[in-house]
Amino acid sequence: MSSIVKVENLVKYYGTEGNIVKAVDHTDLEIERGKFTAIIGRSGSGKSTLLHLLGGLDVPDSGKVFIEEKDMYALRGDALAAFRREKIGFIFQDFNLIPSLTVWENVVLPLGLAGKKVKENDVSDVLKNIGIDDKKNALPSTLSGGQKQRCAIARALVSSPAIILADEPTGNLDSQTEREVMGILKKCVRDYGQTLIMITHDEGIAQMADVVVMIEDGKVVK
Ligand SMILES: Nc1ncnc2c1ncn2[C@@H]1O[C@H](COP(=O)(O)OP(=O)(O)O)[C@@H](O)[C@H]1O
Ligand SMILES: [Mg+2]
Repeated sequence: MSSIVKVENLVKYYGTEGNIVKAVDHTDLEIERGKFTAIIGRSGSGKSTLLHLLGGLDVPDSGKVFIEEKDMYALRGDALAAFRREKIGFIFQDFNLIPSLTVWENVVLPLGLAGKKVKENDVSDVLKNIGIDDKKNALPSTLSGGQKQRCAIARALVSSPAIILADEPTGNLDSQTEREVMGILKKCVRDYGQTLIMITHDEGIAQMADVVVMIEDGKVVK
């Protein structure tokens, strides 16, 4: 198997002595390239903390995360941020759009941060694929939940990341919109060979996954 993500003995605790929360507790994990992996587990089991660590959004207490064989946390600061922007797209449950920017501006923001040229045709293609191109000049506050999540997905995809990390991306959506958003994400895996790692508490979504990883008390149990 070819793994795109490899986690070795990863640890992240919160709190102080006497009141320690073992959010990620000596965890090992390998994620296969080009597959859809679902991460499941009850609330508070450490799923989001693990996903943030996979994506370079947090710093572990100890242990390693390899992304395409690169020891990610050997990088720090700007180098880590640049690596993350190159390899990883994030999609959050609450969309994390910037309210004062239009859809287009939100979507191209990571390209700007990465110092990449915005290729307007490529961005337009992504927006069309995702079905949000008619809203490109709209502000997030004027969008439905599904449209907001499409915008957030477009933002994650526009730099063609190898890995898409999603934290309950359909948690705030109705079931019809959820199906549409899942269709877009599955297409990324099937047609573009991207690797999707998604936290979900939805049985139906977990059943769509190629691999299911179960987390309990900060550890991978299955
Ligand atoms: N920034 C933080 N500060 C303190 N405790 C945290 C922080 N983030 C998460 N935790 C705690 O770590 C545990 C795991 O949280 P989380 O990774 O969000 O779990 P899940 O996503 O599975 O619900 C929980 O007990 C949570 O309260
Ligand atoms: Mg969570």
